[in-house]
Amino acid sequence: MDNTQPTFLELLLEAHIGLERQGPGSPETIEQALKFLGDIEKIQNIADLGCGTGGQTIQLAQHLNGNIIGLDMFGNFIDELNKKAKIKNLDSRVKGITGNMEDLPFEEHSFDLIWSEGAVDNIGFQKGLNHWHKFLKKGGFIAVTCPSWLTKDHPSVVEKFWSDAGSHLDTVDKNIEIMQNCGYQFISAFTLSEKCWTDNYFYPREKAIQNLVKKYDNCDTVKEYAEMNKREVELYLEYKQHYGYVFYIGKTI
Ligand SMILES: C[S@@+](CC[C@H](N)C(=O)[O-])C[C@H]1O[C@@H](n2cnc3c(N)ncnc32)[C@H](O)[C@@H]1O
Repeated sequence: MDNTQPTFLELLLEAHIGLERQGPGSPETIEQALKFLGDIEKIQNIADLGCGTGGQTIQLAQHLNGNIIGLDMFGNFIDELNKKAKIKNLDSRVKGITGNMEDLPFEEHSFDLIWSEGAVDNIGFQKGLNHWHKFLKKGGFIAVTCPSWLTKDHPSVVEKFWSDAGSHLDTVDKNIEIMQNCGYQFISAFTLSEKCWTDNYFYPREKAIQNLVKKYDNCDTVKEYAEMNKREVELYLEYKQHYGYVFYIGKTI
């Protein structure tokens, strides 16, 4: 038992660090998105932005034979990615670095592919796509997932949840338009399945949070954090027809 009172940020990091994913997604979705990228042998330099602990970074490395840089703001997540890369013998091609997606520390026109799952909404879809464009080579691909409205009806309770979390949801059509206005040719968009949310993210996260409740002996912050996460799951299950993560794939022109 631990008597220190963790902050919300510490809880978020502790709950997520041991998970395969820090947001909705799946290996099948990655394969589906890769099918839109033409001859993947030509994809040699890849950035995975907001990579978290790198579950999808490692999967990408298993499908592609190029070099991948995973970037995330949290050093602890990056340490996990670098450990995984070493264990899987991928450390000659996969490297994690800490950094800010809003101010990328890369040379312009250096990537064949910018990948980003569940992260761009933290800075805004438009801002992200605009800033990242110059780091892609001409004809380079962008493949990002972003929470989006799936219907014309936008329940206010869902809108409030995402806006409290610092994100803004747009419709799929609007995001496609944004992508085109940012200088990309739109290739495809598809919605992630419910399993990507539940089995692959919410349920493992729920287990990790239960362990934290025990570890911190039911302290108020942990109870509040657990309650907040429970509400997020309930909200998704109730309103899932209205919103979801959408994979957007495009190409620079
Ligand atoms: C929902 S998680 C997704 C992680 C991983 N891509 C996945 O799908 O499992 C979002 C990630 O974006 C990172 N992130 C948020 N804002 C960021 C920023 N401005 N710069 C770099 N990383 C950021 C967070 O630290 C977090 O790891």
